[in-house]
Amino acid sequence: MPSGAESVHERICQWIEQSYRPQQPDQQVLVLSPSACCHLTALRYVRAGFDVGDGLAYAGYSEQPCAIISSFTTFFEDQPTFRTGALLFRFAPGDGGGAAGFQVLLVSAWVDDEDVNANMLAIACVPSRALPAWLKFEKECTRIANSAIPFRGRVYVMGGAEATFDATVNWDDIYLPARLKDDILQDVDSFFKKGVAIYRRLNIKPFRKLLFAGVPGTGKTMLCSAIAKWGQAQGYFVVYVSGSNRYGAKFWKIHEALDMAASSEAPTIVLVEELDSYLEEDSRAQMLNVLDGTESPENKFGTLLIATTNHPEAIDTRVLKRPGRLDRIFIIPEMNSEDDAGRMLQNYLGDSWREEHRGIIPALVGKPGAFIRETALYALTLAAYQNYDHLPLKLLRDSLRALEDQIEAKDDFLTAHRKTELGLHAVRKPKKRQNGLLLED
Ligand SMILES: Nc1ncnc2c1ncn2[C@@H]1O[C@H](COP(=O)(O)OP(=O)(O)O)[C@@H](O)[C@H]1O
Ligand SMILES: [Mg+2]
Repeated sequence: MPSGAESVHERICQWIEQSYRPQQPDQQVLVLSPSACCHLTALRYVRAGFDVGDGLAYAGYSEQPCAIISSFTTFFEDQPTFRTGALLFRFAPGDGGGAAGFQVLLVSAWVDDEDVNANMLAIACVPSRALPAWLKFEKECTRIANSAIPFRGRVYVMGGAEATFDATVNWDDIYLPARLKDDILQDVDSFFKKGVAIYRRLNIKPFRKLLFAGVPGTGKTMLCSAIAKWGQAQGYFVVYVSGSNRYGAKFWKIHEALDMAASSEAPTIVLVEELDSYLEEDSRAQMLNVLDGTESPENKFGTLLIATTNHPEAIDTRVLKRPGRLDRIFIIPEMNSEDDAGRMLQNYLGDSWREEHRGIIPALVGKPGAFIRETALYALTLAAYQNYDHLPLKLLRDSLRALEDQIEAKDDFLTAHRKTELGLHAVRKPKKRQNGLLLED
């Protein structure tokens, strides 16, 4: 057993030299491998039979005893990730025969690092002749580990407090003009089914960008969630870029999501909510390049970026006006027909719905969907609190009036303070948020 004073990598190398290398028939080299090679979930998705060149194919791995590194596994979202200790990888001639098979021993351990708290160190002992094959295998492991392929069944969250979530909104739950909904779905569907092939034929990166713009509460977040659910049903990979972890809304998160899309080897939908909050001065130039596609790698299966904003005026006109940076802008309107407003109200009132409630519908036209929902919920709460066995129209009217008054009071308050330069106008463009709280710059 080597002494404790030596570094972990020294101890691993000595152990390999003493207890593994002498039994190997071929000449061996030691290489520093990427941590993806001991990422158990990534390994689960490396195909058996993966071609590593020279007629050789990956034939699986087994866990090996290791006298110097104890073995343990780290988990993320119920899935195993990094395993410390020794793994033995086997490569064998493929169906058509080929060069003689070989094996690779990989030993991995966590080591302290000054910058990151801990770092994965993985050292492989590879037959010299098989080095190109091993490097190809390493690359495949890295691709899978970076692509979140293991999380494809759920929406992968980039930069959020949670790593994944289930999209639950149905397309039919959204009350918007039928033509608008059809238009959006057709745009998304036709891009993946037909557009991608056309872009590629024209030698253009298959990267399309849509923007949903509208006042708060019109259903933009719902649309994103419904598209996520629809995309997953098609087998597409869906990444949701979130500003909710401690780093806030940072442009590099969008960049990383696009990288991930490229390595996923699947049609990918990238959702970015409140795009305006990602546009800090210092990332504007980068933003323009990324949206142009010049700074993002190509996903040959197609990447569709869908962004939302409540403040389109905050988005650079160079982004808004130049074709190719945002391909299409959909304006998501307030409830603009009695028909939609009525169906939505009926939906939120459920069993409490009565014919007399129709009287309030005209007053709901022109309001965002969230407003109609609030009117219904508050009225139902009032009715229950006052022990009614039904919901009188009057309570719906009271609820509507209370909400209108509140919004009016808030508008007056904000306008007044904007005039006095108290800086409250900053609420229009929150920049840094953590768990919904505004942070100081
Ligand atoms: N068009 C709509 N159809 C159905 N419900 C809506 C609609 N718009 C808003 N809502 C309701 O209001 C809530 C907030 O809407 P949201 O999608 O977050 O709005 P936005 O992202 O545009 O600000 C939703 O969860 C939903 O309950
Ligand atoms: Mg929203």
